[in-house]
Amino acid sequence: MRFDLLTIFPDFFTGAIDHGIIRRARQQGQIGIEIHDLRSFTDDRHHIVDDRPFGGGDGMVLKPEPIFCGVETLLAGRLPGDPEEPTAIVLLTPQGRVFNQREAARLAVGYKRLIFICGRYEGVDERVVEHLVTEEISVGDYVLTGGELPALIVIDAVTRLLPDVLGSETSAVHDSFADGAEGLLDYPHYTRPAEFRGWRVPEVLIGGHHGEVAKWRRRAALRKTQERRPELLAAASLTEAERSWLTRLDGFDKQSSVSGSENPPETDGQSVDREVGIDKKC
Ligand SMILES: C[S@@+](CC[C@H](N)C(=O)[O-])C[C@H]1O[C@@H](n2cnc3c(N)ncnc32)[C@H](O)[C@@H]1O
Repeated sequence: MRFDLLTIFPDFFTGAIDHGIIRRARQQGQIGIEIHDLRSFTDDRHHIVDDRPFGGGDGMVLKPEPIFCGVETLLAGRLPGDPEEPTAIVLLTPQGRVFNQREAARLAVGYKRLIFICGRYEGVDERVVEHLVTEEISVGDYVLTGGELPALIVIDAVTRLLPDVLGSETSAVHDSFADGAEGLLDYPHYTRPAEFRGWRVPEVLIGGHHGEVAKWRRRAALRKTQERRPELLAAASLTEAERSWLTRLDGFDKQSSVSGSENPPETDGQSVDREVGIDKKC
């Protein structure tokens, strides 16, 4: 898969694409990421990419000419639908279709190339939306200062779904929202030590019985999904036994909260910013 980014801040991506799985996928040639400075597609001496909005009002708008020129240069005469290299011209915008795991899978399977237009200021001239882009993607119902972070989010989520990008030990099949997990949230994960500050890992996970572990994980995923994202359960294919187990669990949890008994404590750690040299207190 090839990713092209059209941006007025090409340095924004330095570092972000140079770590972990994205870096390895680049090194192994599974993906290519090209960053293009929108200013290099201008004709004027000052490389102006924005202008005031017609009709007045606050802020600036990205001009259409450099964006059209940039995309057309990258396409080099090809049409986006060319079967040799199916390409999406993606505008990152809060007005787009909200991105999720299913959308990531659709892009990973459906295209060989994604060209991202990163908006800034008040956004891009609407003629870009009407006559150039083939996909409008939002990363959520909030407004960011630019399309660079959203583009990175899409690149990251799509890349890890490409064949052979993840090692088998980090397979995406059981991830939250994945089809392999039937759209449920992932089950909880634990590692050594088996006991930390008095909090023990569930015994079943250290017993070495694979069948019991699988059963525990399935139930833990169901329970977590019911607690945090119950709407996901509607689309999941659960057995009758699982549905009735969840109903009983729901009744039990309601009873527990009335009687004041607690669920097991959460195991998330405290984050410490080590880069700024905070004294270690543990
Ligand atoms: C300040 S925003 C412009 C918002 C625009 N005036 C609106 O209200 O729809 C500047 C740029 O950031 C990017 N952006 C902001 N929020 C985003 C989101 N939730 N998803 C994707 N892109 C976003 C877009 O590229 C957008 O053009």
